Amino acid sequence: MINMRKTLLISLMTMCFFTCKDSQRKTTEPTTKRGLITENAMVVSAREEASKIGSDILKHGGNAFDAMFATHMALAVCYPYAGNLGGGGFMVYRLKDGEIGALDYREKAPLAANKGMYLDKDGNVIENMSTVGAHAVGVPGTIAGIFAAHKKFGSIPIKDLMQPVIALAEKGHIVTKKQHKKLTEYDSIINAVNGKKIIYNKNVPVNDTIKNIQLAKTLKRIVENGRDEFYTGKTSTILLDYLKERGSIITSKDLKLYKAKWREPVSFNYKDLQIISMSPPSSGGLCLAQIMKMIEPFDLKQYGHNSLKSIQVLVEAERRSYADRSYFLGDPDFVEIPTKTLLSDVYLQERMKDFSFKRATPSNTISYGEILGSEKEETTHFSIVDQFGNAVSITTTLNGAYGSKLFVDELGFFLNNEMDDFSSKPGVPNVYGLVGGELNSIAPEKRMLSAMTPTIIEKEGELYMVLGTPGGSTIITSVLQTILNVTEFDMTMQDAVNAARFHHQWLPDEIRMEVNFFSQELKQQLSNKGYFINEDAPPITSKVDAILVLDDGRLEGGADYRGDDTAVGF
Ligand code: DON
Repeated sequence: MINMRKTLLISLMTMCFFTCKDSQRKTTEPTTKRGLITENAMVVSAREEASKIGSDILKHGGNAFDAMFATHMALAVCYPYAGNLGGGGFMVYRLKDGEIGALDYREKAPLAANKGMYLDKDGNVIENMSTVGAHAVGVPGTIAGIFAAHKKFGSIPIKDLMQPVIALAEKGHIVTKKQHKKLTEYDSIINAVNGKKIIYNKNVPVNDTIKNIQLAKTLKRIVENGRDEFYTGKTSTILLDYLKERGSIITSKDLKLYKAKWREPVSFNYKDLQIISMSPPSSGGLCLAQIMKMIEPFDLKQYGHNSLKSIQVLVEAERRSYADRSYFLGDPDFVEIPTKTLLSDVYLQERMKDFSFKRATPSNTISYGEILGSEKEETTHFSIVDQFGNAVSITTTLNGAYGSKLFVDELGFFLNNEMDDFSSKPGVPNVYGLVGGELNSIAPEKRMLSAMTPTIIEKEGELYMVLGTPGGSTIITSVLQTILNVTEFDMTMQDAVNAARFHHQWLPDEIRMEVNFFSQELKQQLSNKGYFINEDAPPITSKVDAILVLDDGRLEGGADYRGDDTAVGF
């Protein structure tokens, strides 16, 4: 038995060395295990197939932006819960010469949208209207985003980037155990929303393949006709007919008007690190900056990883930042965000002034409603470093798992339910329990506030780390903890990704903790100080995919064992 265990352990460790996707370990103890190490380049994404397609493109001389294009589309094929053509996302990049930038291809509210569109005649939020079906769909931004990135930085023709992706759609991808579990979990709602079974369904056994011929056809048309195929071509006609039949307010004008936007990323320093992250309409970068600035004066290293004091400091900073998020953040093209103040030392010191290790600061200054649903979410993040030294960090989403659950058969993809990221009614929480404010209310052509936090870090002026994650409201705090795990608690990239995570978002006033990782004693100590612990739903669904540049210049991947995430490189 012991020998069998030993053999199993060794083979698990070997698997990790090559693909870095094992480690169902149930411990928070740091070890010195490293993820995949490569000399030149790496792609870490939610699926091995997608990482490999990206890595092969790099191997054949493509750059990080070429790999981004192909990996993005490959995820739409083999990771349909979140990989998408019918959603949107954000990219943060750092070129080899140190130039940084960000791309916003977030979905937009349709022209016919209005502030009260999810309210009934009494002003109450209509359940599920912003989360399921045609009314939940925002104008998709993904195709505009990947074409904008490619136009500016790509070096390989799109037809060559798409070729392996189209082949994957035609030949099919393997259904993993985890994928099968998701398909089973969502089968009845997908069938109900679509009125029939679609190609992604629970009857496809584990290890069987799913082909998506319609998606292959859509991708071929996109290769042929470029970006406009999606927004004004045949694909748009099919999409609009489909949406119209289901009562959507999205029109041809909405698609025609959609544009991805280059934005200035949020850039700030934490100790000796320069952190570059996504700016509004994502709250990710600003909240990450606020939290890191608030915790900077505390000696986390001395307190220890996931110790009582460390958790208290992080939770109290998170609580304050998420409260600000709710009041001050929205689409910067529509609302004024007091960025300078929110990030100023004076303001943040003032925010933490009433913090004490003695007792939790209650969040009860503002009331909030019931959480509307217990739906789990799916977004996906991927990180790329190419052999030239360019880095991209991309988080993309349909919002909920399979988005609105609407699957456009003829086009082979799901449509988002991103409209739920607006605040349907100030003070009423969305599916993540996030309480929205007035500045994130719905308006025609406005982008809904996001928590996505694609991030790149420099140390001493050199590329140091690339990371991000799905996880709805827990995205920001998962990125935060992963950074701290490496920089404060000396973990390897893989260990930093594996380590147990916790989360506080101001409202509801509770610390969400990953189940089975935190000791009873610690939870009791927190509870004695007035903290509420929640280890039940909604769970922490983050899956961090990261790359660390080691001292000798090699790359270490951190691929989250919580999913099928895999690092591939050379
Ligand atoms: O933009 C946002 O913040 C959300 N729509 C992200 C959703 C998400 O991360 C779901 N993932 N688990």
